[in-house]
Amino acid sequence: MAFRKKTVRDVELAGKTVLIRVDYNVPMKDGAVVEDMRIRGSLATINYVLEQGAKKVVLISHLGRPDGEVKPEFSLAPVAARLAVLLSERTVKFVDATVGDKVKNAVAELPEQGILLLENLRFSPLEEENSEEFAREIVEATGADLFVQDGFAVIHRAHASTDAIARQLPSVAGFLLEHEVSNLEGVIAAPEHPLLVIIGGAKVDDKQPMIDQFLPIADMIAVGGKIAADGYTATDPKIYVAEDFATDENGAKLDIGETSTAKIVDLVAQACTIVWNGTLGMVEDERFEKASLAVAEAMGSTDALTVVGGGDTTGYVEKVLRRNPNLHFNLISTGGGASLELLSGKKLPGFEVLQDN
Ligand code: 3PG
Repeated sequence: MAFRKKTVRDVELAGKTVLIRVDYNVPMKDGAVVEDMRIRGSLATINYVLEQGAKKVVLISHLGRPDGEVKPEFSLAPVAARLAVLLSERTVKFVDATVGDKVKNAVAELPEQGILLLENLRFSPLEEENSEEFAREIVEATGADLFVQDGFAVIHRAHASTDAIARQLPSVAGFLLEHEVSNLEGVIAAPEHPLLVIIGGAKVDDKQPMIDQFLPIADMIAVGGKIAADGYTATDPKIYVAEDFATDENGAKLDIGETSTAKIVDLVAQACTIVWNGTLGMVEDERFEKASLAVAEAMGSTDALTVVGGGDTTGYVEKVLRRNPNLHFNLISTGGGASLELLSGKKLPGFEVLQDN
């Protein structure tokens, strides 16, 4: 399926100041980045844009939910430090502002081919209000000629940096966005059968739209996690709900049991396309990660096309991969809400607003 939007490949980049919206909303602890999957995911586009001769790159992102106030614990400064390590051959700078003279000066002082990360966009309430004025001020302060959306994980939000700003500059997709959307749309539009969808997690209201979306096209949907433990009822013979559970000393069902795990692992072995969203147990406690681990290992060892989405699931699969780097997944989505919405058939504003191909 052809990608519907223009990408960085389709535009002239030489000599341009390129504004890239990334999603550096990464887990932090004690002022340091704990997990950098989203930062690593942004490197291909940054490098490509500079290799094509862009003059300067300005990166914009949010971090957490500071609710429109400057809260130092949500500063992107530690993220800039991690980015500088990952791009050690390049100049990476940070400025603690998003608009105004501070940004203008920082861009002016940036050497050619340098990269500048601005401060957390959500320090201003105007970001989440999708303010045109805020978007205009960012464009003006950075002197950007072109906007690249590469923050896949945030494109389900219509904010100033995902919507309003894309209406003010030529706006195209970056490689991470292209990779994520192509794979996720691909499994809905033209999956190779049998298609297995594995659903876990805690909130049935979040996952039901995805089950509804896949029911007509999937060959099998397996439901585990808290949803199953809470008594999810199958409405279709194609839906398999976990039938046994591992419990703690108080009888709380915190993982699916051996019979259900074996059944899902068997379905994985038969499938040609597998979509997994939601862990099957309480994976933070290793006593209750058995089912998720078995499924991750089975998925990571098949030749099937494998897609993992959802914040908890991708974090977990990344952890499993660190222990066993031989496993392979076609897409470990960097987007939690965004991948869930896309897989539920919703239109994502930060994607739709980009220039059509
Ligand atoms: C995410 O982590 O899912 C994105 O960065 C979006 O964050 P939000 O849910 O705070 O808008």
